[in-house]
Amino acid sequence: MNSETIISCQNIYKRFTEGKLDVEVLKGITLDIHAGEKIAIVGSSGSGKSTLLHILGGLDLATEGKVQILNKDIAELSDTERGILRNQSLGFIYQFHHLLPEFSALENIAMPLLIRGLAVAEASSMAEEILTKVGLGKRTKHKPGQLSGGERQRAAIARALVSKPQAVLADEPTGNLDHKTAQQIFELMQELNQEMKTAFVIVTHDMQLAEKMDKIYTLIDGQMKKA
Ligand SMILES: Nc1ncnc2c1ncn2[C@@H]1O[C@H](COP(=O)(O)OP(=O)(O)O)[C@@H](O)[C@H]1O
Ligand SMILES: [Mg+2]
Repeated sequence: MNSETIISCQNIYKRFTEGKLDVEVLKGITLDIHAGEKIAIVGSSGSGKSTLLHILGGLDLATEGKVQILNKDIAELSDTERGILRNQSLGFIYQFHHLLPEFSALENIAMPLLIRGLAVAEASSMAEEILTKVGLGKRTKHKPGQLSGGERQRAAIARALVSKPQAVLADEPTGNLDHKTAQQIFELMQELNQEMKTAFVIVTHDMQLAEKMDKIYTLIDGQMKKA
């Protein structure tokens, strides 16, 4: 292997058990995500895309199999250690931006850095820099409710990237946007990938957008098929 592995998962199974209901969503997924790589995951609704993304990002644990983030087996870490590893190496983008409504764009984007223990002045200046990069340099004082859908999603991308993570995991980040805005958001992610060498794992319904990634995997019957 010639490039650094950021996330590695081997033979992942995920079962949800609720009373008598027992659903096996993932049935033996093996996948490596390397530095700078752009991966799309497609699949029908309910096929387990979000479940897989949560497991890759250490937000949820697999029932069986091994997940390593930067060569650390996440099942062997405490919740706190896992949280720190996530905060330091990964960024997340969701379909609905999850920005905090009562805070400005700048404050929202500075938040992950403050959690990391950076001083307010430094966090604010880094937040401003990344907001400028995503085209929101003139919107730093706006609250999420004062931004358009596309602008909010740009802000969510800025928040995911501000801590310069090695990988960004995005769950239908454009699912909520019109096609043209979705395309712009994708192009922005492409640019940032080029510039910052961030790996991107993007779950999407949109094949046209998926085709812009380096690899496309389809999740079907709990398994991954490479296109
Ligand atoms: N916390 C949970 N408890 C029980 N079942 C779940 C849970 N999360 C997801 N599932 C089930 O797992 C399947 C896959 O869900 P999900 O990963 O959200 O699919 P997708 O993102 O591809 O639409 C669905 O059948 C869903 O009902
Ligand atoms: Mg989903």
